[in-house]
Amino acid sequence: MKTVNDITALRQQINEWRQQGLKIAFVPTMGNLHAGHIALVEEAHKHADKVVASIFINPMQFGANEDIDSYPKTLAEDQQKLIAANTHLLFTPTADIIYPKGLDQQTYVKVPDVSEGSCGESRPGHFRGVATIVCKLFNLVQPDVACFGKKDYQQLQVIQTMVDDLSMPIDIVGVETVREDSGLAMSSRNGYLTEQEKAMAPALRQALLWLGEQLKQGKQDFHALSKQAAGKINLVGLNTDYIDIRHARTLAKPGPTDTELVILAAAHCGKARLIDNLQVSLA
Ligand code: PAJ
Repeated sequence: MKTVNDITALRQQINEWRQQGLKIAFVPTMGNLHAGHIALVEEAHKHADKVVASIFINPMQFGANEDIDSYPKTLAEDQQKLIAANTHLLFTPTADIIYPKGLDQQTYVKVPDVSEGSCGESRPGHFRGVATIVCKLFNLVQPDVACFGKKDYQQLQVIQTMVDDLSMPIDIVGVETVREDSGLAMSSRNGYLTEQEKAMAPALRQALLWLGEQLKQGKQDFHALSKQAAGKINLVGLNTDYIDIRHARTLAKPGPTDTELVILAAAHCGKARLIDNLQVSLA
């Protein structure tokens, strides 16, 4: 696996592969890789001849009081994991390379509606930062296919909407969430959890499963059900940020005839903010 941090070297390799007619799949990450990230690399191999990963902790998607300074950096271990997963190229740019004019660049990618609720409400500007960096990375890597985890369900919908709206010739592949045995969704931020918090954290997933069952039984009072689920999460010592029942694709509030739903949730657990979701099909 080659690791490059400058744009010229990246483009040279990509051009070489393109001239050979090879198909390229891309897995953007912020590093501190775990089995969830590696599942994306494995999926990427199914869709292309060459797999490119990136590690870039994107300052534009972090709020002023968020964890950019403490975000874990484990490049050597990440490289070993990517080599073991047969990744062909790793792009590790610095912020100067990605944002030569700083974060005040003129052009942004904003994907309203789908970005507005849930995490978008709790983290203003977050999805603008995500869409902008992913758009930039797409322009640099020019992949045929890009893989994103369903763990970050809203992010996946933001990216899919951006690609559709801007006619980007890239197939977006959503990959199932990889979990710990406890049901907790794997996340780089789980490293912030103490042993005690790790035992509490699966309550988020359990509340989603409970709520999903209620919906499948035909219950429709979304507000009361979400409140009840939040109560279950808070009871074990987590602090629920939101639980939203949404239309699975548009993330709009569902109507009584909508059958494809997703429950999106976030909760604070010690220093970590956990997110998870559950797709529910009532058809
Ligand atoms: P990061 O949190 O590093 O995640 C990189 C990719 O891994 C995302 O597509 C995310 O959904 C996926 N992922 C994380 N945990 C997962 C799990 N348990 N199972 C399956 N997939 C999982 O998401 C970002 O970085 C950034 O916002 C990024 C897209 C790179 C833009 O900066």
